[in-house]
Amino acid sequence: MYSRIAGTGSYLPAAVVSNADLEQRMETTDEWIRERTGIQRRHRAAPGETTVDMAEHAARAALLAAGRDARDVDLIIVATCTPDLVFPNPGVMLQKRLGCVGGPAFSVEAACSGFIYAMSLADKFIRAGESKCALVVGSETLSRITNHDDRGTAILFGDGAGAVLLEAHAEQGIISTHLRADGNYQDLLYCSGGISRGHAPGGDHIVMAGSEVFKMAVTMLGRIVDETLAANGLPKSAVDWLVPHQANIRIIQATAKKLDMPMERVIVTVQEHGNTSTASVPLALDAGVRDGRIKRGELLLLEAFGGGFTWGSALVRY
Ligand code: UT7
Repeated sequence: MYSRIAGTGSYLPAAVVSNADLEQRMETTDEWIRERTGIQRRHRAAPGETTVDMAEHAARAALLAAGRDARDVDLIIVATCTPDLVFPNPGVMLQKRLGCVGGPAFSVEAACSGFIYAMSLADKFIRAGESKCALVVGSETLSRITNHDDRGTAILFGDGAGAVLLEAHAEQGIISTHLRADGNYQDLLYCSGGISRGHAPGGDHIVMAGSEVFKMAVTMLGRIVDETLAANGLPKSAVDWLVPHQANIRIIQATAKKLDMPMERVIVTVQEHGNTSTASVPLALDAGVRDGRIKRGELLLLEAFGGGFTWGSALVRY
């Protein structure tokens, strides 16, 4: 038994913050942001709009795309670093909204790699016969943990959600997943406060040593895409689409180069929404599926890198 993608969905909140808006607030330029990151705009959740609200939109879209009823769902995993509450977890909140209570529902925190981690877990539940229909969601309200006066991070992050419905299937869908972490790098990318340590004065914010993170991301993503193909005995040319974490166009270009893939075979959405952490990979996947580029039977390589550091990949036959 394998797990296969039955449907994808995504959601971006209506409010948009353009590079021109940021120029008004801090010492930066549209040109610098576009050249150094590829980002043109990011979306921001409305006051009161939460991670679970956005997760629900994306989840309903994925269910609709799959032609499945919410009552079919027997497992929910929500990847996020910005949950509505400490507990209950956003998975059970989503479960209640969708009306599919009973099966396991939980959240995964692995920063920007959270969706790959969650997808890997759901795949294992399905392969073990413990789930037949799993909803995997990445959803973030990063605007609530962004220092909007810090030009090193405020230009990068945005809000949004993406979802995938996985179903048990006799044919192979998810071929393999590869999860990695190295806790030695916690100081390079972290949120400055929390429950147990206490909240930071002025609010909890993302802190990042940008160029150090950049270099590690390029190295580790380059390595993991090689490992993923080697583990499956596949040449680089076998991959139809790279569906990367959307943090920075230059990181995406470096990974594509490592795979000898032209940018036409890479799903790039970073210009539209910036870095949405766990929502980034499913947002890109949904964009590629909905505009018809990604077709059934094609081979996809998903990857992400984030705070921790954590990183990971998934090789998927769509
Ligand atoms: O999703 C988790 C993983 N996260 C990432 O992958 C993000 C990784 N990092 C990055 O994407 C990039 O490092 C950034 C976009 C954050 C920064 O780009 P960079 O090319 O690494 O720039 P830098 O930090 O080395 O800074 C270069 C210059 C500096 O000025 P000086 O010291 O050379 O005079 C910065 O102060 O650019 C300056 N700078 C800016 N200038 C205009 C930094 N931010 C800005 C800005 N506008 N927003």
